[in-house]
Amino acid sequence: MTVESVKPTTREASEPCEPPVAGGGVPLLGHGWRLARQPLAFLAQLRDHGDVVRLRLGPKTVYAVTSPELTGALALSPDYIIAGPLWESLESLLGKEGVATANGPLHRRQRRTIQPAFRLDAIPGYGPIMEEEAHALVERWSRGEVLDVTAESFRVSVRISARCLMRGSYMDARAERITSALATLFAGMYQRMVVPLGPLYRVPVPANREFNRALADLHLLVDEIVADRRASGQKPDDLLTALLEAKDDNGDPIGEQEIHDQVIAILTPGSETVGSLVMSLLLVLTEHPDQADKIRAEVRNVVGDRPVAFDDVRKLRHTANVVVETMRLRPAVWILTRRAVTETELGGYRIPAGADIVYSPYAIQRDPRSYERNEEFDPDRWLPGRTESVPKYAMAPFSVGNRKCPSDHFSMAELTLIAAVVANAFRFEHAPGSDPRPRNGITLRPRRLLLRARPV
Ligand code: HEM
Repeated sequence: MTVESVKPTTREASEPCEPPVAGGGVPLLGHGWRLARQPLAFLAQLRDHGDVVRLRLGPKTVYAVTSPELTGALALSPDYIIAGPLWESLESLLGKEGVATANGPLHRRQRRTIQPAFRLDAIPGYGPIMEEEAHALVERWSRGEVLDVTAESFRVSVRISARCLMRGSYMDARAERITSALATLFAGMYQRMVVPLGPLYRVPVPANREFNRALADLHLLVDEIVADRRASGQKPDDLLTALLEAKDDNGDPIGEQEIHDQVIAILTPGSETVGSLVMSLLLVLTEHPDQADKIRAEVRNVVGDRPVAFDDVRKLRHTANVVVETMRLRPAVWILTRRAVTETELGGYRIPAGADIVYSPYAIQRDPRSYERNEEFDPDRWLPGRTESVPKYAMAPFSVGNRKCPSDHFSMAELTLIAAVVANAFRFEHAPGSDPRPRNGITLRPRRLLLRARPV
């Protein structure tokens, strides 16, 4: 696919100019059809036409930022906020008062409330649950059945987030219900985002009824979890307690709606992203058996014959590098959006107030200007001494700035542990019907992985 671009008008020394328009748009739909049909290839090629380019999506102009430096500037600048169609469609389903969609002082206060649960020194407290869940996978997968990796990956991801952040035995049963509700919602949400048919999604056909049931169940579950915790009178040191005890800027308890939306805003992105990455990791172990062998060798060396424990994770350097390289080539969050609150300038280009801006961690992290052998899977590129050549912001799967994922340490720990535990127990191969092609939804993941796990 080629994207011809219109060159920008000549730039005056100090005056920002209009970014070039990406070529290849079609009447009425503009670039929308390319973005919908081949999003990854389309976004990756935009870099050939400028650091900032204009896209036409139907009647709307959207600005795409394509260089690491400018995506960093965008993420770090207070002139750009979380808003735009991606967020609006999420808000309408998940609530307006959660940390992932709030801006300004509300967002700052909410970050202060949730941050302690994700601090580096809080993570070891989650070790026993992460260990239990990772080893439970080995137990379940030892039965020799073909694994439906999508279901398995989301289950482990939801269970770890829910059990770690909202402790309590009542969570075990509910984690299964949350898994099932979120699986239905994630599929439906992406469709609602890219094909915004508004009232048509209220027509009571089976797919809409199933989506609405899942959404209602998720909201009910969250209410039940909050009510149970209050009724128990217990205040374990976890995120749910932090939310229930949080005060607003006047020192008053935060409202019920905010507590509710916060729980959803934390559970939802956490489960979808980690679930997608577990799938991508299993695909890597399947398609790069040499890397699976290296992980096994590292585990044998560091751990010996006992089961892998959470405390081993920080010594499993190669395993962690496999996780990082998986995130580089298959970032769960493949597209991000922002909205300019005021007229501003980015890389010498004028961005009008109210403009919607997109950028793609997928395109940035595969840019040949940033990475030698950019498409090659090479975990050793993350060895000490070799990372200096990677430009700033060319690797930011958790983003940077005030919206950076609070869960970077938490997620790295759980993914490294899962990779070590399962690679140490099994070799994986595709089963008939497995389709590893990328699927762009709210996150990026393999389309449908069906694997056989052979004990090593
Ligand atoms: C935000 C990625 C896991 C909770 C983000 C953002 C990214 C991201 C890129 C920033 C979005 C933006 O800039 O617009 C990831 C990846 C994960 C992961 C790659 C797994 C490997 C998790 C988990 C949780 C979580 C496990 C919670 C249990 C959040 C929240 C935000 C966020 C609450 C919103 C932060 C804010 O707006 O202040 N994540 N995430 N994430 N993530 Fe994660």
